[in-house]
Amino acid sequence: MTVSPSRNSPLTTNRQYQVSDSLLSHGQCRFKQSPVYSYPFRQVLWVWGVQRMTEKVIVACEFSGIVRDAFRDKGFDAISCDLRETESNPEYHVKGDALELIDERSHEFDLMIAHPPCTYLANSASRWLYERDERWKDLIDGAVFFRELLEADIPHIAVENPVMYGYAKKVIGRSQDQCIQPWQFGHGETKRTCLWLKNLPLLEPTNVVEGREQRIHKMPPSDERSKERSRFYRGIAEAMADQWGSYIAEANANPIESQ
Ligand SMILES: C[S@@+](CC[C@H](N)C(=O)[O-])C[C@H]1O[C@@H](n2cnc3c(N)ncnc32)[C@H](O)[C@@H]1O
Repeated sequence: MTVSPSRNSPLTTNRQYQVSDSLLSHGQCRFKQSPVYSYPFRQVLWVWGVQRMTEKVIVACEFSGIVRDAFRDKGFDAISCDLRETESNPEYHVKGDALELIDERSHEFDLMIAHPPCTYLANSASRWLYERDERWKDLIDGAVFFRELLEADIPHIAVENPVMYGYAKKVIGRSQDQCIQPWQFGHGETKRTCLWLKNLPLLEPTNVVEGREQRIHKMPPSDERSKERSRFYRGIAEAMADQWGSYIAEANANPIESQ
């Protein structure tokens, strides 16, 4: 059934939320007709509804915390998950396998943003496929991991990767929905970044700047280089939190219209 916030509640949106029938008919008691379904019980339902008001976001395959913290700064209940430790705010990070976490807890999340490894999927790495046979298996494993993220049972999903090799796209089943550049979001750099979207609008550029430097390519080889290469752009993270955060909040406030 659908429960609306009561007239006296301080809720500022007209969001309705679903309450399962089992919650309302516990044992022999039918709460809808019972005095139990009176003020205190409705308060419990209302508090539960308020808690659900905060949309929950998982940022999979993120050690930097950049996207996670952009959502947290806007009031979303965001966590990150990566095989590595996070670089900041470990209380909002799960160190482990993102697919395992999603298998167990997908029902909790409204939105997932995922940055799976591109090592074997990227167009720029495709020359190795013809030099080392085992690379084909790595490519297929990577693409299957990507596809499982994209097909997770979460209402809104964005999966990010650089320009992808054609065969990897075949395994995934489709091409990206859009490609963006850091220079469209306030960073004077080029790095074509592709987004596969489920139930999300295209990301709009927020701050087109003049610079077109290839900073990452110029970095000297080092242990930190691959980490630095994969660290996400704050300007894009802020655009995601702003635009997609508003979108999922709106979708949850008006579930029928957004279907
Ligand atoms: C391309 S990097 C993305 C980094 C991200 N853009 C950031 O700013 O932190 C890919 C990340 O995926 C993580 N990863 C790989 N397999 C994973 C898995 N099964 N579960 C969770 N994270 C995974 C790696 O540890 C790595 O940090």
